[in-house]
Amino acid sequence: MSNSISRSGLQLRSMVRQDAMLELSLVTLAIPDPAPDEVVIRVEATPLNPSDLALLLAGADIDTAQASGTVDLPVFTASIPNQAMGALADRLNKSLPVGNEGAGVVIRVGSSDAAQALLGKTVAVLGRSMYAQYRCVPAEACLVLPEGTTAAQGASCFINPLTALGMVETMRREGHSALVHTAAASSLGRMLNRLCLRDNIGLVNIVRKVEQEEILRADGAMYVCNSSSRTFLRDLTQAIAATGATIGFDATGGGELAGKILSCMEGALKLIEKESYSFYGSMTHKQIYLYGRLDSRPVNFTQTFGMAWGMGGWLLTPFLQKMGPAAVQKLRERVAQEVNTTFASQFSKEISLAQALQPEMIAAYAKNATGEKYLINPSI
Ligand SMILES: NC(=O)c1ccc[n+]([C@@H]2O[C@H](COP(=O)([O-])OP(=O)(O)OC[C@H]3O[C@@H](n4cnc5c(N)ncnc54)[C@H](OP(=O)(O)O)[C@@H]3O)[C@@H](O)[C@H]2O)c1
Repeated sequence: MSNSISRSGLQLRSMVRQDAMLELSLVTLAIPDPAPDEVVIRVEATPLNPSDLALLLAGADIDTAQASGTVDLPVFTASIPNQAMGALADRLNKSLPVGNEGAGVVIRVGSSDAAQALLGKTVAVLGRSMYAQYRCVPAEACLVLPEGTTAAQGASCFINPLTALGMVETMRREGHSALVHTAAASSLGRMLNRLCLRDNIGLVNIVRKVEQEEILRADGAMYVCNSSSRTFLRDLTQAIAATGATIGFDATGGGELAGKILSCMEGALKLIEKESYSFYGSMTHKQIYLYGRLDSRPVNFTQTFGMAWGMGGWLLTPFLQKMGPAAVQKLRERVAQEVNTTFASQFSKEISLAQALQPEMIAAYAKNATGEKYLINPSI
């Protein structure tokens, strides 16, 4: 695509049809003239995060994929299993834009001073609908990236960095001093590890593969436990005892892992507190937040961790609302300052909007595999 200022651009859409088919397509939209306090961004980088994939792919069976349309305007269809359709009733036959965050260059601005100041700047935006060539957004939604930072480097400036910061903030606000994290070799996990090392916070990383242990140890992680190891429960209990972690954030959100973490916290507290036997277990509160759904099985646990515990969901948006605009602004500023260090993201492949609809590409990025995050560049 040329750099000339266009009047229209493509946007990716996801639709769940009445006939239980997922349909992905590209639509052409006119670029609106920005209002006084708005700017138009040419989007150059937008990541395919797990939360985007949930909306984009709607649980469709990728093995049933069919490609149609043209090279420039491809259409992807795949069938959705019957058991998944119930939860999709609210989006039936709605053509939904996708893409929670991204970055690009401001190419048109409204008349306000705030908007004018952004012309030509590379900015990051948390703006939904980012799988598009152009986005018109309020000037105040833009995070100006430090001089020399590319759109690709700034594409993941919000979801994962603010979640990592949010976990640490939640830990502090709820009176804990160290934390446990699962699927810890994820992009987010590596950010959280760097953040905790930098801020001197105890962190127990849980992974499921030896190569993931190696990634985190090479990043400087002190405590890495492998859930596939025979000694996992003992290792986890010891790491929790060493750090004093009493809060955990679980990205798997299914199966037995959350319960095992609470049991190991209880075991570690017994080692630390050395109090006499109580039927109710340790009086220290243990908390686990399920914040992802990487494991689609139901959560399953045996209650072996006394009575002082909690398990709940954790989501970035309500957390930011609770923090309030001033505190959130401070977090955003820290992310901008450390976007190439603490909050750096790595992408394994850069693809165009049309390529994002190719069945073999979807099969690859839908895996959510370690080190395999894809980046869409709508400008190519
Ligand atoms: N609640 C919120 O507000 C919020 C905000 C941001 C992110 N998140 C969540 O944070 C998680 C990480 O996001 P990301 O962008 O950092 O992901 P990512 O870079 O794509 O990495 C995904 C990681 O999850 C692992 N994984 C996948 N399925 C797994 C399973 N069943 N059990 C254990 N590990 C599994 C992968 O390891 P393998 O290579 O072994 O598959 C990989 O290391 C996602 O679940 C996302 O939805 C939630």
